[in-house]
Amino acid sequence: MLPPGGRISGTRLARLLGEWRRSGARQGSTDLAAALKLLVADGRLPVGTRLPSERELTDALPVSRTTITSALDQLRTEGVVESRRGAGSWINGPVGAGGGITGGDDTLIDLTRCAPPAHPGLRQAMVAAMDQMPEHLGSHGYHERGLPALRQVIADRYTARGLPTSADQIVVTSGAQHAWALTLRLFAGPGDRVLVEQPTYPNALEAVRAASAIPVPVPMTDDGWDVDAYEAALRQVGPRLAYLIPDFQNPTGLLLPSAGREKLVAVLRKAHTPLVVDETLVELSLTDEPMPLPMAAFGGDLVVTLGSASKSHWGGLRVGWIRASAEIVHRLTSTRAAIDLGTPVFEQLVLTDLLRDPEPVLRQRRLEFAAQRDVAVQALAEHCPQWNFKVPAGGLGLWCTLDAPVSTRIAVMAQNHGLRIVPGPRWAVHGGCEQMLRVPYTQSPEVLREAIGRLGVIAASVAGTGFPADAELSTPVA
Ligand SMILES: Cc1ncc(COP(=O)(O)O)c(C=O)c1O
Repeated sequence: MLPPGGRISGTRLARLLGEWRRSGARQGSTDLAAALKLLVADGRLPVGTRLPSERELTDALPVSRTTITSALDQLRTEGVVESRRGAGSWINGPVGAGGGITGGDDTLIDLTRCAPPAHPGLRQAMVAAMDQMPEHLGSHGYHERGLPALRQVIADRYTARGLPTSADQIVVTSGAQHAWALTLRLFAGPGDRVLVEQPTYPNALEAVRAASAIPVPVPMTDDGWDVDAYEAALRQVGPRLAYLIPDFQNPTGLLLPSAGREKLVAVLRKAHTPLVVDETLVELSLTDEPMPLPMAAFGGDLVVTLGSASKSHWGGLRVGWIRASAEIVHRLTSTRAAIDLGTPVFEQLVLTDLLRDPEPVLRQRRLEFAAQRDVAVQALAEHCPQWNFKVPAGGLGLWCTLDAPVSTRIAVMAQNHGLRIVPGPRWAVHGGCEQMLRVPYTQSPEVLREAIGRLGVIAASVAGTGFPADAELSTPVA
C-alpha cells in the first residue's frame, strides 16, 4: 500500500533536522539516522510522510550520498522507514515504545513535556463531580460556551486578579491549545501574519501554521519583550494578530512587568492589532511578589485571553477557556460548531469544584514547584556547570544557554541515554536557538536529579563536537 501522508521537501527536512551532526564525526550515518528518529518520535515526521529522494537529500544536507543511503538503510532495518521501487521512501514508524529510545537502565525520562502530574485534591474534586453528574444526565449535555457555573468561577478569578469579568465573557474550551486554535480561526486566515515571541511555545507555532497563517517572530531580549521591536514589526509586516505569553513565558520563564504591559498594549492599539494573551502559566508565581495586572486590564476589548487548568491542576482534564468581549464570545461560539460542540461535562464539574476555592491547592503547588526548581538549579550547577540560565520567578522550566550550539545533538544523543528532550530550534520559527535547551522541573526531585545527571553525561560527550558558536550567532532570525 502507498503511504497516505504528504511529502516533505529536502530543504524543510534539513531545517527540521537542525545541527544534528558532530563536526568531523565519522559515524555520520548513525547520527543522521538518530536525528531522523528524533523527528519521528516527537511527531514532526508523522507516520506516512513521504521522504525526499536520496538525490534531493544529498543536495539539501551537508553529507555525502553514501551517508544518506546508509542512514536510510539503518532506518529500514529498524522498520522506521519503508521504501518501494517507484514509490520512494516514507516513514513507516512508529519508532517503538518510548520513541525508540533506550535507557542504560531501561527507565525512560520524558523532559519534552512541561506538565506536572495531578495534585492530590483532584481525586476529591472528581468524587464531588461524580455526585453532581445525575443532575446533568437528564439533559443533552452540550454546552458550547461551557457550564454556567464554571464560567462564573472562571470570571470570578479574573475579577479577584483585578480584572472585572462576567460569565458572558467566558467560553470554556478543551485546553488552551484548543482555545488558541479556535481564536486563530476567528481572527486569521491563509497568508495572514501573526506576531509571536521568539522563542515561543512550539505547539502555538504549529497552530498558526495549521491555520495557513504565517508566524512572524519578534526576538525576546535577555530581559524580555522589546517594545520597539514590536512597534517596528507592526509597521513592517502589518500582522492580523499578535500572540504573547507574558506570564512566565514558555520557554524563557520571563514575566512582563506592568509598565511593559502598558507600553506594549499601547503600540498594538495604535496599530489596531488584536492581542491574544496565553495565560497558561499565570498561576505559577514562585515568589511572594505581587503579580502584574492581566494584559486585558490594559487593553480592554483589544485583548483575547486564553487560560488553562493544565499546569495549576492537571493537563489530563483538558479544560481551558477564552476570556473576550461578549461580542467575540458570541462569534467564537458560532464558529465552534465546525470543530466541536463543547467540552465534556464531567471535567467541567471537576474544575468548577477546584476553582470555587483555588488558593489552598495553588499555594501547595507553588511550594512544590519552587522546591523542584531549586533541585533542578542545583543539579544543573553540579552536572552542567558550563550552562547558563536565569532562575525564573515562576513557570515550570529553565531556559538554558549551552556552551556551544549543540542543542539538537544533545536531544539526538539523549535518545541513547533514556531521555527525551526538545531541541532548541523547535522554539524558533525558522530554526536557530541551537544553543538553547529547556529543562522542565515538573517531575519529582529524584527523577530530576537522574535526568540532569544524564544530561551532564550527554553534554560531556557532545563537548567539542558541535559547530563553532559563531555559526549560531550568524543564524538569520527573520
Ligand atoms: C504557553 C502554553 N500554552 C498552551 C499550552 C497547552 O495548554 P493546554 O494543555 O491547556 O492545551 C501549554 C502547555 O505546555 C503552554 O505552555
